[in-house]
Amino acid sequence: MLNQCLELKLGITLKTPPMTIPNPPLQKAQALLRQYIEDDEIQKHCEATQRKALQIAQQLSVKITVNFDLVGIGALLHDIGRARTHDVTHGYVGGQILELYEYSPAVVKIVERHVLGGFTAEEAVLLGLPERSFIPETWEEKIVCVADKLGIYDWDGITQPQSWLEEMENRFSELKKRYGASEPFFSSMERAKHFAVAMIRLTSLK
Ligand SMILES: [Fe+2]
Repeated sequence: MLNQCLELKLGITLKTPPMTIPNPPLQKAQALLRQYIEDDEIQKHCEATQRKALQIAQQLSVKITVNFDLVGIGALLHDIGRARTHDVTHGYVGGQILELYEYSPAVVKIVERHVLGGFTAEEAVLLGLPERSFIPETWEEKIVCVADKLGIYDWDGITQPQSWLEEMENRFSELKKRYGASEPFFSSMERAKHFAVAMIRLTSLK
């Protein structure tokens, strides 16, 4: 935490990214996504989310340390659980699939925690998930969570942080139809916006 504060004040990196268990290379992740996800639209969404997440990581990396490998692999595979279910448990299911292929806990958590803005342990139980927190904690987890809410299916451009909240509202209209505009989804969507606001503030820090 102290290092993070200093990094923010000084604009320099004081630590190396956390060491993680090596993951299978990106090419294997692309092949795995194609093996599990046959739907073209979901594949395009995963690729668009990856581009967007890497763009956000690039913008934030001026101020904080971000592990680009984790962001790239986690974003590409974030919806692999939709091979089994499209409901809110697809993040958890996706994490289980990736454990089978020996992805690191860091990638598994990115995938498990990307749905809406994540869920508290209490919310998780209501949704039929194990009783533990599914809220994004690391920058990599938060970046993929936010990028997923910004990505339109064929996104391939550059958007500025100032427009992120507006883009998220558009995506939430779609997600409200899928999941319902009720608790705990509403709280979870607010949480995702909160992450985006923190990132917008970070990019504007001098
Ligand atoms: Fe998803």
